[in-house]
Amino acid sequence: MALSSTSPKGVVISVPVLVLSVATAAIFLFFLLSSLSSSTPPCSCPVIPPSNGGSSGDSRTNPIGSIGRIAATNEDVEWVKRQIKDNGLHMADNVLRKGINPRTREQQLQDLLQFKGISHYEGEEVRNHTALPCPGELLVEQHHSNYGEPWAGGRDVFEFLAESIHLTPDSRVLEIGCGTLRVGLHFIRYLDPAHFHCLERDELSLMVAFRYELPSQGLLHKRPLIVRGEDMDFSKFGSEGMYDLIYASAVFLHMPDKLVWVGLERLVDRLKPLEGRIFVSHNIKFCSRLGGEECSKRLNSLGIEYLGKHTHDSLLFNHYEIWFEFRRSKV
Ligand SMILES: C[S@@+](CC[C@H](N)C(=O)[O-])C[C@H]1O[C@@H](n2cnc3c(N)ncnc32)[C@H](O)[C@@H]1O
Repeated sequence: MALSSTSPKGVVISVPVLVLSVATAAIFLFFLLSSLSSSTPPCSCPVIPPSNGGSSGDSRTNPIGSIGRIAATNEDVEWVKRQIKDNGLHMADNVLRKGINPRTREQQLQDLLQFKGISHYEGEEVRNHTALPCPGELLVEQHHSNYGEPWAGGRDVFEFLAESIHLTPDSRVLEIGCGTLRVGLHFIRYLDPAHFHCLERDELSLMVAFRYELPSQGLLHKRPLIVRGEDMDFSKFGSEGMYDLIYASAVFLHMPDKLVWVGLERLVDRLKPLEGRIFVSHNIKFCSRLGGEECSKRLNSLGIEYLGKHTHDSLLFNHYEIWFEFRRSKV
């Protein structure tokens, strides 16, 4: 005898019908739930909002070294300010603390000369330890204070110049007087191998570049062409490719005007017509000293056009720098 249930209104539902209804409802519910669950994330991984890397077209997400944004964005600056606040960090005197073996540069150098470091090779083994022994003065980074300007300001200069000319890794760049590579390092890191050239007269600066900065920054493979010279002789730079950028950061003001003109005359044919840029920092007294009209005439005769004066701020300290922009006007 089949069991049956009775509703209050007296409708009789047989057990098989009841079982079938429940099974149908269960199947329906199963499909409904599984379709809902497939539209939610498969895990609780953090979701990157589009403004912070979700869009592949956003150049701010490109790492340095690829084509895209170079300078820090306002969001970057806000982010770092937030990190400082959230971590409770304050502006404070930079007092050396006990307990972490604090050393000034002088003390570090003294230690190196006297004790040669804690673990060092002696006798025959000295010859095995490295192919590139480096003078202690460079190891304690005295050269980071060589030119008065904070070392970190090199990044500001790079960002300004790179963004001004829309630098890409295949751009070609020449720096006149790259010194200890305060600025040049950033170009070398970003550019394709052999695309950074520099003429520098100072032996100590060249030592710094080859024996400390390039090896310590892992940039030897970038093969920058850095040539010793002081008379604006660019013959060692070959004739392959035209420069997208030629710049002199805090250099022309230290040179005799006549030498600056010799350099410009020799370099103008090496600069990409119209698109390429020459940037000179601080002042252009080599030109203005001639008098406004004479200055323009002389530039014109070389096929160089003055485009204007710019200032740019530092991200790190209350400082701005002045730059003068030129281009090659004749093709
Ligand atoms: C104030 S430093 C600037 C170095 C670098 N450009 C920077 O911004 O950090 C000036 C540099 O120009 C170099 N210099 C001066 N006269 C030069 C010349 N005639 N030829 C090549 N380099 C020169 C100096 O040796 C020095 O390294």
